[in-house]
Parts: sequence; C-alpha cells; structure tokens
Amino acid sequence: MNDPLRTALAELLDGLPSKEVAAAVDRLIANYRGDTPTDAPILRDRADVAAYAAYRMPATFEAVRSALAAFADAVPGAAPGSHLDVGGGTGAATWAVTATWPGGRDVTVLDWAEPALALGRQIAAANPALRNARWQRARIGAGLTLDPADLVTVSYVLNELSAADRTALVDAAAGAAQSVVIVEAGTPAGYARVIEARDRLIEAGFRIAAPCPHSAACPIEPGRDWCHFSARVGRSSLHRQVKGGSLAYEDEKFSYVAATRLPAEPAPARVVRRPQIRKGQVLLDLCEAEEQLRRATVTKRHGDLYKAARDAEWGDAWPPAGSAS
Ligand SMILES: C[S@@+](CC[C@H](N)C(=O)[O-])C[C@H]1O[C@@H](n2cnc3c(N)ncnc32)[C@H](O)[C@@H]1O
Repeated sequence: MNDPLRTALAELLDGLPSKEVAAAVDRLIANYRGDTPTDAPILRDRADVAAYAAYRMPATFEAVRSALAAFADAVPGAAPGSHLDVGGGTGAATWAVTATWPGGRDVTVLDWAEPALALGRQIAAANPALRNARWQRARIGAGLTLDPADLVTVSYVLNELSAADRTALVDAAAGAAQSVVIVEAGTPAGYARVIEARDRLIEAGFRIAAPCPHSAACPIEPGRDWCHFSARVGRSSLHRQVKGGSLAYEDEKFSYVAATRLPAEPAPARVVRRPQIRKGQVLLDLCEAEEQLRRATVTKRHGDLYKAARDAEWGDAWPPAGSAS
C-alpha cells in the first residue's frame, strides 16, 4: 500500500475504540455475505465506514492499481485529465489513480453513502493530488447521468447492484467517459459481471485495452473457468489487528476490464495463471490475440525469453515489451 494512505488509515483508526471497529468488521462481513443488492447503503455510520476502510480499502486500492497499470501499459495516452469514481466509497480508486499518474486532476467521487464520502474526504486530505476532489452523494439507478470524464472507474460496485442498475451504470459510464475501468472480486460471479460489462462497452464502440489481448468474445467457456488476477496487499499491524491473523501480506483476487475510445495497443498475450517453474522450463497459461487460451512451454533453448519467463508473473503481458517472441 502506498505510505500516505497507510498513514492516513492508521491515524483514522487510532481514534476509534478497537472493539467498536471489530464489531463493525463482523457486521460488514455478514452483510457482504448476505443477499446483495440492498435497498439502502450497507455503510451506514462512521464505524461501518472506518471498518471498511481498514478491512477492505488496502485491498481494493491494490486491485485497482494493478488494473490501471495494465491499462496504462496498453494505452500510450491513458493519463486522465479528469477522473470520475462511481460508487467510490472511501475513495480507494482515487488513490490508485494518483499512484498510477501522479499530480492533480479534476476528481469526482459519487456514492449514496454519506458516511463513506465524509471519511473518504477526510483521508484524502493526506493526498495533495486529491485536495480539490468533489465527494458527492448520488444514487446509481435508472436516472443516473454522469458528467463527462476522461476516466470512469467502477470498483467493487457492480456486485451491489441489481441487473437493471448494472446496465444503467455501464451505459452511463460508456456515454460519459473516454476510458472505463471496472474491477470486481475475482470470483466466478465477479468475472461474469465483468464480462457482461465488457460486452456492453464493446457494443458502445469501446476497445478493450486490458486484460484481454483482443476485443472479440472471451474464449473462456462460461461456468468452466473465470479470468482473474491477484494483487499482493502488504498488511500493516493495524490491518492485522482488524482482520486477525499474523501473515504479513494477503493476496487479493480480482477480475477487471479496461476499455477505451483512445488508440490502444493491447498486450499480444496475457499470463492468466500463476506461471509454473520446472527444471529448465516455465509453463505459461496464456490468453492470446488469436482469441484462444494456450499453454506455452518456454525452455532454456529460448534464451532471453526463458529468462523473461522465469520473471513473468500472473497478469503480466507476454512476451514482455522489447523481447522477441
Ligand atoms: C464495496 S464498496 C466499494 C467502494 C470503493 N469503490 C472501493 O473500491 O473500495 C461499494 C460501494 O458502492 C456504493 N453503492 C452501492 N450501491 C449503490 C447505489 N445504488 N448508488 C450509489 N452507491 C452505491 C456503496 O455505498 C459502497 O461505497
């Protein structure tokens, strides 16, 4: 996690009774396991929101940052002059955008939970690039209209919406943005929501910049597998205290799509599973531009490419820029 965010979260929780936060984390977990969508915000008060910020924000921040890095690699002009974060909550995606492209820009965060916006605004005071951000109450639904923005992010929100509201949101984002980045949990259901959004964005004239090497249909057979990635989240002692357990890190699984109207050069292929390193060879599961999934075996005989394969990580473009295939 980036340091100012870690410090801001630590300061925030410092002032709150840990019992209260632990109880709010339990409530949050129960709510997120329950039936969503809900008719009213899950984040109802400051304790809920503080619990969310401590318990989930470091992970959603890393997932969005990872998706934005892949988007930035594929789109030379990706750096946005304006950013609209819909269902932005405490603002994880706004921090991820400023971590990807430093400096100030026009930033608006929309959410229906006032306590989340208030806390997001408070944490953002520690980030000079977010000093002028607007934190506005808005309900995602049929009547949603969005002001034009270079980049719209929708991070871990589709899960909380009805099918009709998901459609309304993706269509509104497509109408307002040059680029749209959507991130969901890396589960079969999260992947299904991402694919549904991907299809709508392509229909609206967008190209897929990442993770897919093409804008044709996803080659994964529905129900058999799901495209997802993993982001490492360093846990502060405070994070360990709220979440329990003693590991120094956790891996956040996420699914995403980054779509754009800008000129894009998607990766020739992407590593879609953790590479398997064997004696003298690396096995790479790739999603390729030819709209297929393929396992490539890269051996010592491939020279520099073999070295690159040993360094390759789940989610990377393949082959790495500048290397021969
Ligand atoms: C899981 S949180 C994600 C927050 C943030 N985007 C992140 O990645 O950490 C989902 C957010 O969506 C908001 N949300 C859910 N349904 C909404 C709706 N119908 N209108 C506006 N906001 C909504 C919630 O209030 C909450 O802040």
